[in-house]
Amino acid sequence: MLSDRLDPASLKYVESRDPGQGRLAPRARYRSDAVALDLDGAWRFRLADSLHDLTPDFEAPDHDDTGWERLPVPSSWQMRDVADAPRHGTPAYTNVVYPFPVDPPRVPDANPTGEYRREFTLPPEWPGTGRGVLRFEGVDSAFAVFLNGVRLGDGKGSRLPTEFDATDVLRPGRNVLAVRVHQWSAGSYLEDQDMWWMSGIFRSVALLHRPQDGVGDFFVHADYDHLTGEGTLRVDADATGRVTVPELGLDVAVGERATAPVGPWTAETPRLYDAELTTAGERVRLRIGFRTVTVSGGLLRVNGTPLLLRGVNRHEWDPDTGRTLTVETMRQDIELMKRHNINAVRTSHYPPDGRFLDLCDELGLWVVDECDLETHGFHLNDWRGNPSADPAWREALLDRMRRMVERDKNHAGVIMWSLGNESGTGDNLRAMADWSHQRDPGRPVHYEGDWDSGYVDVYSRMYADHAETDRIGHGTEDPTTDPELDEHRRSLPFILCEYGHAMGNGPGGLSEYQRLFEQHPRLQGGFIWEWIDHGVRRRTPEGEEFFAYGGDFGEVVHDGNFVADGLVFPDRTPSPGLIEYKKVVEPVAIRVDAAARTVSVRNGLDFAGTGQLRFHWRVEDEGVPAGQGELAVPVVAAGDSAVVSWPPELSGAADAGAVGAERWLTVSARLAKDEPWAPAGHEVAWFQAALTTGAPAPSAIRSGAGAPALRADGARITLGDGVFDARTGRLVRLGALPVEGPRLDVWRAPTDNDLRGRRGSDAEKWRAAGLDRLEHKVLSVEPGDTGLTVTTRVAAAGSDAALSAVYRWSAAPSGGDGGAGGAGRLRLTVEVRPAGVWDVTLPRLGLRAAVPAALSAVSWFGAGPHEAYPDTRAAARVGRFASDVDGLQTPYLFPQENGSRTDVRWVRLGPAGGGTGLRLSGPTPFSFAARPWTSEELDAAAHPTELVRGDLVHLTLDAARQGVGSASCGPGVLPEYRLLAAPTVFTVDWAAEEA
Ligand code: GAL
Repeated sequence: MLSDRLDPASLKYVESRDPGQGRLAPRARYRSDAVALDLDGAWRFRLADSLHDLTPDFEAPDHDDTGWERLPVPSSWQMRDVADAPRHGTPAYTNVVYPFPVDPPRVPDANPTGEYRREFTLPPEWPGTGRGVLRFEGVDSAFAVFLNGVRLGDGKGSRLPTEFDATDVLRPGRNVLAVRVHQWSAGSYLEDQDMWWMSGIFRSVALLHRPQDGVGDFFVHADYDHLTGEGTLRVDADATGRVTVPELGLDVAVGERATAPVGPWTAETPRLYDAELTTAGERVRLRIGFRTVTVSGGLLRVNGTPLLLRGVNRHEWDPDTGRTLTVETMRQDIELMKRHNINAVRTSHYPPDGRFLDLCDELGLWVVDECDLETHGFHLNDWRGNPSADPAWREALLDRMRRMVERDKNHAGVIMWSLGNESGTGDNLRAMADWSHQRDPGRPVHYEGDWDSGYVDVYSRMYADHAETDRIGHGTEDPTTDPELDEHRRSLPFILCEYGHAMGNGPGGLSEYQRLFEQHPRLQGGFIWEWIDHGVRRRTPEGEEFFAYGGDFGEVVHDGNFVADGLVFPDRTPSPGLIEYKKVVEPVAIRVDAAARTVSVRNGLDFAGTGQLRFHWRVEDEGVPAGQGELAVPVVAAGDSAVVSWPPELSGAADAGAVGAERWLTVSARLAKDEPWAPAGHEVAWFQAALTTGAPAPSAIRSGAGAPALRADGARITLGDGVFDARTGRLVRLGALPVEGPRLDVWRAPTDNDLRGRRGSDAEKWRAAGLDRLEHKVLSVEPGDTGLTVTTRVAAAGSDAALSAVYRWSAAPSGGDGGAGGAGRLRLTVEVRPAGVWDVTLPRLGLRAAVPAALSAVSWFGAGPHEAYPDTRAAARVGRFASDVDGLQTPYLFPQENGSRTDVRWVRLGPAGGGTGLRLSGPTPFSFAARPWTSEELDAAAHPTELVRGDLVHLTLDAARQGVGSASCGPGVLPEYRLLAAPTVFTVDWAAEEA
């Protein structure tokens, strides 16, 4: 039952497909000298559980709301106090599935509804003439607006602006604004994006004065002719007036064309001209970027030049405020992107806060602006009743497209319109594209969900694997389903609007994609899925912070941690995936020819020269600096290359003294001066070359004379510094250090990518094969004259497949050629041989061991500083690094394998304040991870806060590891990074060492 005094007809809009009543026509968002009253701030708020529980007359100016609480506008009510005790419902996460029965346009009776009220007084400068417009930048999901008790209208389209004419009800003194917002509405069927469901007035609200003879709407057409270097400007408007661009000396009438030589706008050179549009009643500030976007000759071009998009998909997210972002956060996103060589953003899957686009214009990013549309949940019902194909929804879809294009049409950065995401196929999408082409012929249209691509200007796909992407690059892809469309689609450029699913550890295989993009002109790059993990900051009852994901709020239907798949963590700390992406897409390719003593630089930018960069070289001997300096490189134009000889200082450093250590040269390109998005000195690109490979490590430890004898004495066997358990053959002590000695280990806590996959996951196969529960049977422990041989068979219950592992220990004399610090060194050579049928890959092949937790200070010479796996190692550079054990952990929201460092020559673990430590080294590089918990504990935890530090540091040392791939959504591990069980021999030297 509805509250008695509410007329049910007054709530009909909630379940109506109609996009809204009483709204003004959509128009550009702009700043002018007209008076505006900011209505953000603390509003009175009450949450009703359903439409049956609404407050009668809540809109009446004299309604007593003093008992209501205050809620900030903008915000989502579910985020209120979300860290400890959410007060108004909770965020709920689903990916594809609608969290309510699919019965469009109806929604559940349990429809939480926020009642908002605030008062305002017109400012003294409010003119006596003109009109007053209430503007809502974003309200999720349907709302009705009342001013001074009078209903102005209603609206839907959460991430789009809505305006109402308030003129006739505005009062000179006190005004009371009341807004009713419903969590669910017919509009929810169009807003099934993969993200948290949240509600409320989550973007700003303002009362705008509209002066008589003011500007209503206007459209800046600012083209650039790359052949003549001229810009053409024409500003259309629904008022007469003039446009001035002082810097260009332009002063033209609205609707009139003018040309002038200009500097073009590109994402690399975001040249904006300040301008003004003046009518009799208003002055509007414009920032104009001249550029021309075309699809011609099968390529997407700006100013005639084909683009290579190094993009990301960006949702709006903040762990404390949800989809309400400050302008500082928006800027931070763009700065972080630019610092990581990202040049493009797809605003997945809705138009962002308009201020974000202002910043993209200013700082330079290519933007694919996407409409607030996704109907993915219909897919689970075989697309029956999909709004994209149902004429009853056409107006609702067109309305959304119009509101996006009209709001954002004056942004230089927006180079493409996207109809939405994952909304199947249907004529309503075609209608949106047709309308857009007619309204704005200057921007191509994008939509991924209709693979035949009949009404779009680029062929776009998501998660196509490398092989298919390569075929598309060659133009040999499978034909369209409608043969009539094949020729059209083959003529289109290709982008991957989503690829490289950045969920948890990964994504692997980015370098291989980039190679394809650089090889085939038709492949114009793509957008990583996605920018940020949508984790919600919460606290355990003990006050420990963590980031919640789907299911953490007790949702009945949810998609778990699939919401955490970004290149940055929820607090915007870069994940290793972002560091990898930065390296993979670096716009300047540096190479070293050590024999010829030259450095080559290829400028992979599309527009800018390398004038903003300076080059730097550094030589290191086993990671210790041995010389550095500047490298003079002439300015290299976009697409060009240059080769320069080493300066004498570099040659000198390369030749200096004979070194027993590895000598590496690193050349890097850095910003020559401060840029708006990064300070001078910021590194953009780098390359490393080995100058010497170092002294060959002794291939065998001397035995015979001088080598310490082996002593077997009851339960213990002693070999050099090592003490072994005589029954198990395991090392238990090394010098003074207690050790849980090494033994064969192949398990890793499955990553998100291991856990998912189109054709069954690797993790399922590994568990079925028992790789997580291998048993070690000791077949023999054989002390010899100079060494110890331990033979084992490692296998899982129920299986006759096994890995035979033979451990051969030998010792160097104390103080001999062994370790630094004079302690003795033990050499362990492990021989692994698979027996029986092995039809699964291995997560890794190596050892595990443990040492006391006090050994928390870690240093190594190898690749770093970040984690790296076989298919995510582009960004790891060779050097000497140090960290404590905690710092080696990557805090993925869902705990999983992480933190492994690769190509390690030696690693040392010691007490933080100095003392006896453990040094591991080997004749061939290995990978290591050091953790306060075991792989099994990592595997069992659902949140990092569940991981408990014990009294050991657990080490994994690997001869080989499987890559990580991107199977959580996309291709799995590429064949070259899959790890097959095969005979393997590897050696690790163990030494107790003083530091
Ligand atoms: C895509 C979708 C995204 C996201 C991603 C997986 O299919 O467009 O919104 O769900 O998959 O994380």
